[in-house]
Amino acid sequence: MGRKKIVAGNWKMNTNLNEALDLISEIKKGSEQFYGVEKIIFPPFTFLKNANDSLATTTAFFIGAQNCSEHSKGAFTGEVSAEMLSSVGCKFVLVGHSERRTFFKESDEQLILKIQNALKNNLHVIFCFGEQLEERKGGKHFETVKKQLENVLKNFSESELNKMYLAYEPVWAIGTGETATPQQAQEMHAYIRKIISELFSSALAQNTPILYGGSCNAQNARELFSCADVDGGLIGGASLKAADFCKIIASF
Ligand code: 13P
Repeated sequence: MGRKKIVAGNWKMNTNLNEALDLISEIKKGSEQFYGVEKIIFPPFTFLKNANDSLATTTAFFIGAQNCSEHSKGAFTGEVSAEMLSSVGCKFVLVGHSERRTFFKESDEQLILKIQNALKNNLHVIFCFGEQLEERKGGKHFETVKKQLENVLKNFSESELNKMYLAYEPVWAIGTGETATPQQAQEMHAYIRKIISELFSSALAQNTPILYGGSCNAQNARELFSCADVDGGLIGGASLKAADFCKIIASF
C-alpha cells in the first residue's frame, strides 16, 4: 500500500465566520469526488466548532488548529489548550509553524511541550520546520532542518511519531510566490526520511507523511506532488480560494 495523499489548508488569521462557512461548503462541494485524498483545514480557533459541525458527515475531511498552548490548563489568559481543541472535534494541530517561531519566538522547548499536550489529547501533530533564505543561500539548509528535527523529535518515541506528520516549509517560499522546485523539495524530503530513519527506523521513515508548504498553488501542485517523497501540501494563500484549493486536491 502506498503512502497517504494529503492536502491541508492553513487559513492563518483570515476569514470571518460567514466567510469561513462559505469557504468550507464550497471546498466540500468541489472536492467530494476525491475521497482518496485526506483533506484537513486549519481555520482560526473561533470557527473550529462550526467548521467541524459543517463537516460532520464528510469523508476524509478533518479540522485542525493552527496552534495550541504548551500548558494543559490554568491561569494563561488568552491561551487555548489541546484538550479544548480535542473537545470541539479537532483531529490535528500545527506545531512549529515558522510564523509562530518568528513572530511569537516559540522555542524548541515550547514546541516539545505543545506536542506532548497535543498527543495526550489524541490530536495528530503536523510538525512544521524549514530553513531561512540566508541558510539556503549559505548551503546550510540540510544542517538547519536536521537540527530542527532532532532537537524536537528525539524527545518522542516511535509510537508517538506514528501520530505525527511532518511539513517542510522553507521560510523563503512562504507567502512569497517563490516555490521550491520539485527537485529541491524532493531532495529535502528524501533527506528528512533519512533523518527519521536514523533517529527511529526505516519503516517509520517510509510511512511518515511529509507535506511540502511554501507558495504551493493550483499551478505547481501537480509537479510537486509527483515527487516520490512528497505526500501532499500544506497550503496557505491558495487554501483561501475554494476553486484553487480544490484544484490542488485534484493534483495527485
Ligand atoms: P503560502 O502557501 O501562502 O506560501 O503559505 C504556506 C504556509 O505557511 C502553510 O502553512
